[in-house]
Amino acid sequence: MKAIRIDAPFMIGAVEIDAPIAAAGRAVVEVKAMGVCGSDVHAYAGKSPNVSYPVIIGHETAGVVVDVEAGNEFGVQKGDRVVLDPYLYCGVCYPCSQGKTNCCESLKCLGVQTDGSMSEYVAHPVAQLVKAPRGMSWESLAVVEPLVIALHALHRCGAKSGEHIAVIGAGAIGMLVGMAALAYEAIPILIDIVDERLETARKFGIRHVVNPSSADAVREVRAITGGRMAECVVEASGSPAGVRSALHCAAYTGRIALTGWPNKEIELPTALITRKELCVYGSRTGVRSEFVESMDLIASGDVPAENIISRVVDFEGLPDAVRSLHEAPGDCLKAIALKR
Ligand SMILES: NC(=O)c1ccc[n+]([C@@H]2O[C@H](COP(=O)([O-])OP(=O)(O)OC[C@H]3O[C@@H](n4cnc5c(N)ncnc54)[C@H](O)[C@@H]3O)[C@@H](O)[C@H]2O)c1
Ligand SMILES: [Zn+2]
Ligand SMILES: [Zn+2]
Repeated sequence: MKAIRIDAPFMIGAVEIDAPIAAAGRAVVEVKAMGVCGSDVHAYAGKSPNVSYPVIIGHETAGVVVDVEAGNEFGVQKGDRVVLDPYLYCGVCYPCSQGKTNCCESLKCLGVQTDGSMSEYVAHPVAQLVKAPRGMSWESLAVVEPLVIALHALHRCGAKSGEHIAVIGAGAIGMLVGMAALAYEAIPILIDIVDERLETARKFGIRHVVNPSSADAVREVRAITGGRMAECVVEASGSPAGVRSALHCAAYTGRIALTGWPNKEIELPTALITRKELCVYGSRTGVRSEFVESMDLIASGDVPAENIISRVVDFEGLPDAVRSLHEAPGDCLKAIALKR
């Protein structure tokens, strides 16, 4: 079968490898839809500290089960359409024992710490397949995983109906946080330094947008929130300026979820955390219940997450899609590949 492999930074291509076979606890899935994530692009550019080469990339994956143990305890059957929960956990460490499998001490994400799922077939733990309801398109199944990241951030900061959710960074993740906030009947405020991204957010029904390079973001957020500032902030840029502004945009007693991955240490005005008594939460990946919620929100149309897809290629087009996301990241919010 074919797989998309990175052999060394900037060396990406489709290669021929052995197809997987079903083993105990693992099903074989014929891959139908694959999203390209920032982490795939980081692996391509040699910027991912957790990747060792060669690596098959990809973790945003949906497909059809073609081989699975009959009568398994998860009710997964041949022919089922599934999304992969790509975060492999040990199940026994302290966070796993608390149900926080997303924080497993030896967490392995497909395509990062272990080979990924940009291949024609993939073998995956049956326990980590999430069944799709009838009628969902492959496009919409390809964005279930990124929406999980967004939902987890909203859960971490305990976002409630009626609250203002300042979202710093209107990339794929920030945009999905904004859409999910609307579904939660909260009031998202998207903040990004690129006007085109904010225009896109408006098209998704997000009324409040702020560009901190042309306006005073704190003043804008104060005006939108009637002086209070945002009860919740989701940092989804990973930039030093973005993380600092999270502290400034939050209300007194506000809650902040840090989703962006900064690539270096950031100096912060920590006195603000004390003065405002802020709650600052890390937020990484998500848990099974959030995959189910993500699927339901997309299936019901409450979060039209597939609208973030700006480019669809075929399987062979994946290397080029990864290359162009590296060269011109601003042009594309989410690229996916569909296997016909
Ligand atoms: N925690 C997790 O589990 C998890 C999962 C996926 C992605 N991430 C991280 O989330 C972040 C967002 O991912 P993405 O795929 O949406 O990335 P992206 O690059 O598509 O989006 C980032 C956005 O932030 C904007 N930005 C940059 N500096 C800014 C600033 N100072 N103020 C406001 N906006 C600014 C950019 O213009 C861009 O639109 C990344 O850091 C990524 O690594 C985390
Ligand atoms: Zn991803
Ligand atoms: Zn564990």
